[in-house]
Amino acid sequence: MAIVSSLVCFASLLAVVCNAQSANPIKVNTGSTQFLGQQMSSNDPNVSRDGGSQGVLNNVYYQTFADTCQKNNPNDTDCATFRANTIAVTTYSPTIVSDFSNPPAQFCTPNNGARIHITNLVPTDGVSGTHGAVFYQALGSCSQNINGCTTALGVALVQTAPSGQQPTCSVLYGFWDTTKEPMWGSIGAVVSRFPYSRRLVLGTPPANAIQGPQSDGYIYTFGTLDGVQNPAANPNTSDMYVARVLPGSVQTLSAYQYWDGASFQSQRITSGFSNAAVLKNVSPGSVHYNSYYSKYIALNLVNGNTLQAYTASVPQGPWSGAVTLWSNSSYGPPYIPLYDPQGLSFRDTSGKTLIAQMSEFPYNTIKVTIKLFFQ
Ligand SMILES: *[C@@H]1O[C@H](CO)[C@@H](O)[C@H](O)[C@H]1NC(C)=O
Ligand SMILES: *[C@@H]1O[C@H](CO)[C@@H](O)[C@H](O)[C@H]1NC(C)=O
Ligand SMILES: *[C@@H]1O[C@H](CO)[C@@H](O)[C@H](O)[C@H]1NC(C)=O
Ligand SMILES: *[C@@H]1O[C@H](CO)[C@@H](O)[C@H](O)[C@H]1NC(C)=O
Repeated sequence: MAIVSSLVCFASLLAVVCNAQSANPIKVNTGSTQFLGQQMSSNDPNVSRDGGSQGVLNNVYYQTFADTCQKNNPNDTDCATFRANTIAVTTYSPTIVSDFSNPPAQFCTPNNGARIHITNLVPTDGVSGTHGAVFYQALGSCSQNINGCTTALGVALVQTAPSGQQPTCSVLYGFWDTTKEPMWGSIGAVVSRFPYSRRLVLGTPPANAIQGPQSDGYIYTFGTLDGVQNPAANPNTSDMYVARVLPGSVQTLSAYQYWDGASFQSQRITSGFSNAAVLKNVSPGSVHYNSYYSKYIALNLVNGNTLQAYTASVPQGPWSGAVTLWSNSSYGPPYIPLYDPQGLSFRDTSGKTLIAQMSEFPYNTIKVTIKLFFQ
């Protein structure tokens, strides 16, 4: 069967514009899909979390989190301690992380004490280096805090600590204006050139393997609009935008470049949203590189219960149409909706399986995990 690219057309003020859409190669063996349930801490059965992402520094795989709740008893509804964000070390089990302390300590706190959610961890001096960065969103006091009410956006610098100790985090406060431009990092970040070292904690990819087909060395970060504050979005979904920066300049706001639909340039995206968008109507989530399909995969959740994937050869696209990976009617209205899908493919460097984690909304601080097998 021939795979043909389709065309996506939309009307602009002056003309009908058609963008070539790439083919989506993903096929899931749905009979093999495993529902692995809630992620836990190996240190304490009373710790539960949501949000965050994964990343590798100095050959150690970490998971970052947003809200982290520790109860006195797993069945309690109230948290005995609550942290706005935390970091833990991944284990061989996708549903268990190992904490540095009990209860987990907060990882990143800005000087002004704002409650920030961290969404990414990317190395800035290679996977065997000791430095990295996270993108964050500082939250305002409104109930909808994954798609909206962000008061500040920016970058925090991360450095590894001696073995067994939690890395340090230094927050650079307030890079972007969430009322005018995309929330960079709300859909993850990827490093285009990612040479693996041989001392990997999980998996053994070939020496000098490259993550991502590009070798330009940029960190690509993806963003959606704050649906509450920005009229160009609706409250539940947004289009997706792409920015990039060289790892050594991650702390320099003027070094970022933004995809405007034609090229990466220094002008921040505060208008021209329709041209700059690389994907239409997606939820905050993640993009990661998949070595089995040799594609970047963007995960999206529809209706709080249907996990979709879009693919592209380069971060700025063209992106494909969506393929449904998993759907579960136990979630979504009127039940508990899921949000913030994260792809954790590092546990299988062949990329033939995909661990996906999704958080439950609202305030359950629970991440559920599924394992998908590609055909
Ligand atoms: C759907 O979710 C329920 C938990 O609510 C779980 O028991 C079941 O295994 C899931 N099914 C699939 C196909 O993931
Ligand atoms: C966690 O819950 C158990 C009950 O399952 C309880 O015995 C234990 O004291 C709790 N641990 C902490 C640190 O609160
Ligand atoms: C939590 O609730 C479940 C189901 O009601 C019960 O079986 C279990 O013993 C409870 N655990 C604790 C530590 O109270
Ligand atoms: C957003 O989601 C809510 C809750 O699911 C729904 O009631 C509302 O209609 C949605 N709004 C839009 C613009 O889709």
